[in-house]
Amino acid sequence: NVEAKVDSVLNLMTLEEKVGQMIQYNGSWDLTGPASETGNKQKEDRLKKGLVGSMLNVLSVEATEKAQRLNMENSRIKIPLIFGYDVIHGYKTIFPVPLGETASWDMEAAEESARIAALESVAEGVNWTFSPMIDISRDARWGRIMEGSGEDPYLTSRIAVAKVKGYQGDDLSDPRTIAATAKHFAGYGLAEGGKDYNAVNIGKNELHNVVLPPFKAAADAGVATFMNSFNTIDGIPATGSASLQRDILKGAWDWTGFMVSDWGSIAEMIPHGFATDKVHAAEIAVKAGSDMDMEGGAYEAGLEKLVAEGKVDETLIDDAVRRILRVKFKMGLFEDPYKYNDAELLASVPYEDHKATARDIAKKSIVLLKNENDLLPIKSSVKKIAVIGPLANDKDTPIGNWRAQGEANSAVSVLEGLKNTVDTSTEITYSKGVTLGQGERSFLMPLNINKDDRSGISEAVENAKSAELVIMVLGEDAFQSGEGRSQANIGLAGLQKELLKEIYKVNKNIALVLINGRPMEITWSAENIPAIVEAWQLGSESGNAIADVLRGKYNPSGKLPVSFPRAVGQEPLYYNRKNTGRPSSAEHVTYSHYTDITNGALYPFGFGLSYTDFEYAKPVISSNELKTGEEITLSVKLTNSGDTAGKEVVQLYLRDMVASTTRPIKELKGFELVQLEPGESKEVEFTIDENMLKFYSASEKWEAENGEFEIMVGGNSEDVQSVNFNFSK
Ligand code: IFM
Repeated sequence: NVEAKVDSVLNLMTLEEKVGQMIQYNGSWDLTGPASETGNKQKEDRLKKGLVGSMLNVLSVEATEKAQRLNMENSRIKIPLIFGYDVIHGYKTIFPVPLGETASWDMEAAEESARIAALESVAEGVNWTFSPMIDISRDARWGRIMEGSGEDPYLTSRIAVAKVKGYQGDDLSDPRTIAATAKHFAGYGLAEGGKDYNAVNIGKNELHNVVLPPFKAAADAGVATFMNSFNTIDGIPATGSASLQRDILKGAWDWTGFMVSDWGSIAEMIPHGFATDKVHAAEIAVKAGSDMDMEGGAYEAGLEKLVAEGKVDETLIDDAVRRILRVKFKMGLFEDPYKYNDAELLASVPYEDHKATARDIAKKSIVLLKNENDLLPIKSSVKKIAVIGPLANDKDTPIGNWRAQGEANSAVSVLEGLKNTVDTSTEITYSKGVTLGQGERSFLMPLNINKDDRSGISEAVENAKSAELVIMVLGEDAFQSGEGRSQANIGLAGLQKELLKEIYKVNKNIALVLINGRPMEITWSAENIPAIVEAWQLGSESGNAIADVLRGKYNPSGKLPVSFPRAVGQEPLYYNRKNTGRPSSAEHVTYSHYTDITNGALYPFGFGLSYTDFEYAKPVISSNELKTGEEITLSVKLTNSGDTAGKEVVQLYLRDMVASTTRPIKELKGFELVQLEPGESKEVEFTIDENMLKFYSASEKWEAENGEFEIMVGGNSEDVQSVNFNFSK
């Protein structure tokens, strides 16, 4: 059994070797070439002595094998390394950014893209991904909102489970699976002001009811590792929080995997003003339950010394190493440290099939936000289309940020996609109009947005004048969202809005396609442009998927996983908010609102149109009384009343009317994807039991409380019908 094997190895290890397991190095030097005499030589020496537990960013069968050999063939203790990498939305084949993919509400799709990403990764020697990112985020200013699943704990929990299953399969030792990471533990997505790395000031109620549920779901699904986060939470850096890591995760939840720090987050407790130096930071982090130090040098500097001085008990080190070894054993690395260095597997990866899946998932992720007078899908009578905008023929932006080994400029552009699917009698003319991000762009470089060069606008206007339909492709640059990409403004950057308005003056038949990683402020467009398609950064097959939707080959079925605001000043904006004591008033101003704007989202959570119409009948509840141990059902008849086959995401929301702590005005509790032919109906049924009513109560317990509940069903978070029932224990 694994535990006995873990102990048998642990018993052989010196303190130095144990600490070595808790160190992760970045493979920033060329592992396929000779080590330099400087810093890298030192890293290589430690590898040879078996004093490194893991490496990140070492890519390729050759490089991972070389590092593994340095370790296995020279070290006394011969414990295999694991190789981590940010495989966030695909490895080579790129899928929609996670926020976009979540808009599909399709758990099979979420699992399948993770399975494919796992296969492409292990085929190149990478056997550990720092994904899924399951931070709840309610603030469109936060650049990393693109990397998560939005504002809802239930939807994010479902995604967390699907991703863990997709990456890890049923058996971590299967060489086609990859170890997953639930990150960032915890609260990172609620950074104050949406500013990356900023403090998080929430209490226990928000922590347990909003932030933790997806992590609990990932832990229950058996995720191999967790990553802690850069932020402080209620004054304590998450990396140094024993309450989060020891009491909750490893204590109450009894999770047995290991916790890796975020990049340097242990040493970052120094600038946080929480540790005096690296040694002190190491002491805090190890006591708090951070098991591995990612490229921060704190454990290397401090742990042995701290044990020698009696400041850290060696049992804490043993606990961390035991957790790391457990994962390595489960992966089967002790039987074969080179199992992921398989050139034959690499040669057999079906990249072409993966592209087809990427297209399928991409089209399911598209959300139709507006479609006045059925402008879309493009009618076959339309014979001249102008495709305009800086992102219309952009092959790079759809790859998005956190692109792993997704090649630059490798996506199908919208222009290409339309040309691939359009009949040849339709003329397509293209104008870029303006540029968006200028010059060299990459993960770490600040963006240079064009604010001056208007030279292409008049040509675009001329192009639009003679077209029957204009498809404008606007949004965000590939690197406008992502880590360190928080923005105080979330509208169309640069000269894009100016371009849109100029085109609108000459041709109002515009379908606006948005390519972006975050929710954007598009109020002017929503008021003026007849059709709007939210197409996120959809990955390798982006343009084909968008064309499938524009041409009506696929009837859009995506729903927003995040609220779109009327103005940036509304952020953080989320549907599952608290009611306040003054929710509304017709007569005076002293209620909860902004005086210059209507309350609520421009496009709410769960919103998305279809080319067909869905009608909801009155929901029926099986009983208005629910008791512990019993179940009641809510059913609703859904009819496709239009003339196109389509898919609807039927959503179930709940409100606890009075409780020991205030509760949100509604919370998602279930959903079902229903495919219907024109005229077809289906009875959709949801089961309600005590479990669904549970929350973190004033007694600091996860429990349901007696009383009245409102249960709501509908096609988005605002457009719902409700029924009430009583619960008693
Ligand atoms: O996994 C990431 C994390 O999300 C942000 N900091 C760096 C890590 C490794 O690249």
